[in-house]
This record gives sequence, C-alpha cells and structure tokens, in this order.
Amino acid sequence: MSITYEELGFDKIDAVRDLCNELMLFQKSKAYIEPERFDTMSFETRLLPSLKGARDNYLIVAKDDESVIAYAYSNIANKNVYASGPFGQFFDMDSVDGDFVGCLSQFFIKEEYRGIGIGSKLFDQSISWLNNHVEIKDIFIYVSNGNSSALNFYKSKGFNVSHEIMDGFITVMRNTDF
Ligand SMILES: CC(C)(COP(=O)(O)OP(=O)(O)OC[C@H]1O[C@@H](n2cnc3c(N)ncnc32)[C@H](O)[C@@H]1OP(=O)(O)O)[C@@H](O)C(=O)NCCC(=O)NCCS
Repeated sequence: MSITYEELGFDKIDAVRDLCNELMLFQKSKAYIEPERFDTMSFETRLLPSLKGARDNYLIVAKDDESVIAYAYSNIANKNVYASGPFGQFFDMDSVDGDFVGCLSQFFIKEEYRGIGIGSKLFDQSISWLNNHVEIKDIFIYVSNGNSSALNFYKSKGFNVSHEIMDGFITVMRNTDF
C-alpha cells in the first residue's frame, strides 16, 4: 500500500463520482429513519449542486498508487444556502455570526482503508483549509441517522452535536461548545 494525498482541481471532480455514490449507499445502509431518502442522492444531485452553490470549494483525495480510495469535500457558502430547500432550515440563522459558513460536506474512505489514519489526515487538511478563512466563525458537519461511527469520529476531533433536523434524519455537528 502506498498512500498519497492530493488536492484535486474541479476539472477532475469525476474522479470521486463512484466514491460519492458509495457514500450515499453506505449512509442508506446505516439509516433507520427514512433510508429511502438516499435513493435520490448521488454525485449528480448532491456533490455537483453543492459545488456550484458554494463560494469556495476544497476537495482532497487519498490515492493508493493511482487509485482514488478516499475523499473529503468541504466548502464555504452563504448561510442562506441552508435557510430553506428540500431539507428545510439547517440551523437558526441568527445563531451564526457573519454571512458565510464552512462545512465539511462529504467524507468517505473505502472500507478496506478505514481505521489506519487516512480519515484523520483528510479531516485535518480539510479543517485547516476551512480555518484559513478567518471570516468563518462556524464549521458544520451533517451526519445522517444511524452513522454512529462518523459521529464518534467527529466527537473525537472536537466537534459537538448541535441539534437534529428533519425529525432526526440528520444530526448537525458544530465546532463550538453548547
Ligand atoms: C468516519 C471515517 C471518515 C473515519 O476515517 P478513518 O480513516 O477510518 O479514521 P482514522 O483511521 O483516521 O481514525 C482516526 C481516529 O478516530 C478513531 N475512530 C475511527 N473510527 C472510529 C469510530 N467508529 N468510533 C470512535 N472512534 C473512531 C480512531 O480510533 C482514531 O483514533 P486515534 O487517532 O486516537 O487512533 C471513515 O471510517 C469512513 O469513511 N466511514 C464511512 C463513511 C462515513 O461515515 N463518512 C462520514 C459521513 S458524515
């Protein structure tokens, strides 16, 4: 195994298409509340629109030789992006200072590569990119129901549960204390 890390330009976004679709299937397999919601979620319906709706985007991948085996996608968007839409309001807009928020939006390591530090490396790089935008006060992570491993992973990295939305379908985590 020879793992390397690379920031990927968005002209190469197709490189994470399969992993993104695997992430949706993974989340569906874990969900106990409305798993069928994931049926319409894919690279085309989730990743591409997020990319277009954000002000800044950051994609980092891990490769084993030439094969992409993990990715983390983060962005900075106007908080109004989260004000309404198919998933409703993601948070109390007034609780967020400033107009822009950071989000670690998608994160997936192929199963056989989990638990050996690749997630930590991608997480650290992503949070560091988000933190470099000093105007951002809040960083959010959305965890779908049933994914307790991810929830515990983010807790071990200092994120806290903020609240649930969509009747518990998603748990919102945030980089602040409550
Ligand atoms: C969650 C995920 C990104 C973590 O990446 P990873 O490469 O497996 O994690 P690491 O090997 O870097 O583990 C880092 C630390 O977290 C801990 N950790 C990992 N999985 C954990 C879990 N399920 N519960 C608690 N801690 C966990 C490890 O013990 C390790 O701690 P250490 O640094 O003290 O040794 C990865 O498991 C994954 O892709 N899961 C499937 C997809 C997913 O859930 N994505 C998130 C969607 S919100």
